[in-house]
Amino acid sequence: MRLAVLASGTGSIYKAIVDANIDVAVVLVDRPCAAIDLANTNQTPCITLERRQFGPDFDRTQFSCDVVAALTEFNIDVVAMAGFGTVLDAPFFEAYEGRVLNTHPALLPSFPGWHGVRDALRRGVKITGCTVHIATLDVDEGPILAQAAVEVLDDDNEATLHERIKSTERHLYPDTIKKFLADMEAHT
Ligand code: GRF
Repeated sequence: MRLAVLASGTGSIYKAIVDANIDVAVVLVDRPCAAIDLANTNQTPCITLERRQFGPDFDRTQFSCDVVAALTEFNIDVVAMAGFGTVLDAPFFEAYEGRVLNTHPALLPSFPGWHGVRDALRRGVKITGCTVHIATLDVDEGPILAQAAVEVLDDDNEATLHERIKSTERHLYPDTIKKFLADMEAHT
């Protein structure tokens, strides 16, 4: 199974995937970010498909087609989103239907969207966590594969809570990716 990782942020989730000895065939980023350096260090091919529009003029469908075209060059079977900052559109989810994984920093279906950590904190929950799920066109709605709880501390702010959630994601996500890949291998 050939895995692609899509990242935009600090790359720490991507690093956890690599540290878990999961082979990554290609990394794709939508902006300059730390994942590029990490891919270079790992001698893993890295595609930068820079997103230049963030307003209403952004052609999400075209960008999604470009992502599919880029990944197709690498014969990708499974895609792991690792903090990827662009919501992709139907052409991507049609090309990789049921084969896109995502980790979300909250216990879905609670607190979907970009601000899962902030929203949980503002709501005053005492337990939040992370969710690994199959990503679908409906953001944060796909079938849940694994979850883990993380306690919210009284003095948490968004950064401290997110970092504690990420330290859990860095185990849960690679473990779940491994199981998913093994299941796929077993059924092909
Ligand atoms: C993770 O919390 C993930 O759930 C979310 O983006 C974050 C990525 O972290 N989708 P990093 O940029 O890899 O450190």
